[in-house]
Amino acid sequence: MKYQKVNIWDKLPKPFLILAPMEGVTDIMFRQVIARAGRPDLFFTEFTNVSSYASEKGRKNALERLEIAPSDSPIIAQIWGKNPEHFSETCQALESLGFSGVDLNFGCPDKHVNKAGGGAAMIKNPELAIECFENAQQSTNLPVSIKTRLGWSQIDEYQTWLPILLEVHPTALTVHLRTKKEMSKVPAHYELLPKIISLLSQISPETKLIINGDIKDRAHALELHQKYPEIDGFMIGRGVFQNPYCFTDHTPSRDELMKLLTFHLELYEEQSQKYYISYETLKHFFKIYINNFPGAKELRAKLMETHSINEAHKIIHS
Ligand SMILES: Cc1cc2nc3c(=O)[nH]c(=O)nc-3n(C[C@H](O)[C@H](O)[C@H](O)COP(=O)(O)O)c2cc1C
Repeated sequence: MKYQKVNIWDKLPKPFLILAPMEGVTDIMFRQVIARAGRPDLFFTEFTNVSSYASEKGRKNALERLEIAPSDSPIIAQIWGKNPEHFSETCQALESLGFSGVDLNFGCPDKHVNKAGGGAAMIKNPELAIECFENAQQSTNLPVSIKTRLGWSQIDEYQTWLPILLEVHPTALTVHLRTKKEMSKVPAHYELLPKIISLLSQISPETKLIINGDIKDRAHALELHQKYPEIDGFMIGRGVFQNPYCFTDHTPSRDELMKLLTFHLELYEEQSQKYYISYETLKHFFKIYINNFPGAKELRAKLMETHSINEAHKIIHS
């Protein structure tokens, strides 16, 4: 039975800030770290494959990826895949797992994901994309949003691709201002914003427009908001690698960054009691905290040579 659930997107300030979904980065541990540093208005999970959730073998792993912490809320579950029934099945579960919305990934450029027919491959298969969207929407009371790119290989594709998406009136649409082919190798196409804003106001003015690509921090987002007040929200991805406090106006001290790293290590210890998480993967995060202060390079090099959390603690507290 469908009922009208409170729509989280209507509760957000304007402009709102989102931490971009990033596979291998924005997991339950890192989101708690960012919540401590200064949270965005909305979190997204890393993307979860709907066919993995729908299979007996994959469900445990999918549910691990969809685990959320109290400080995550409000949070949107991001999903990807190509099987419309599996979109339905996954969406049916998300509300009871504590999510405030579901986002469909129609933009991932990873070749394995595209080969499996998901992510940016949806740009080449718009009928399937819409079927997946409609199945998702019919299977949950949660608001359904979409994250995508301008096109597959040509930037002009946005003129046909974005209207297709807007015609089904998603609650929110995040546009990463690059094509799939461009990956993240060229500057985001901010010159197209006036045209994208105009498409949205003509076709689906009620859809929240979120812009993504090369936004460094809150100050940068506010600058863009001054220029383009029509944009509802801004999504920051790699900016968080330069400054985990990027959702605030605060410049962290060395001590604050070290405390944040210690917190991340504690969360890793706690989480790895529940399931295996590689220590080598954890080490990728060290450069986020050990950065921009005298002696950072040397300390980072020492920590990168460690093989266990105990070794890391010893170096940090020596
Ligand atoms: C390591 C990494 C993992 C990513 N994983 C996802 C993902 O799971 N889902 C998604 O929609 N986008 C993913 N992205 C793309 C980001 O969400 C974002 O669109 C992109 O980084 C551009 O924003 P930025 O310039 O602020 O980083 C990923 C990007 C990076 C760098």
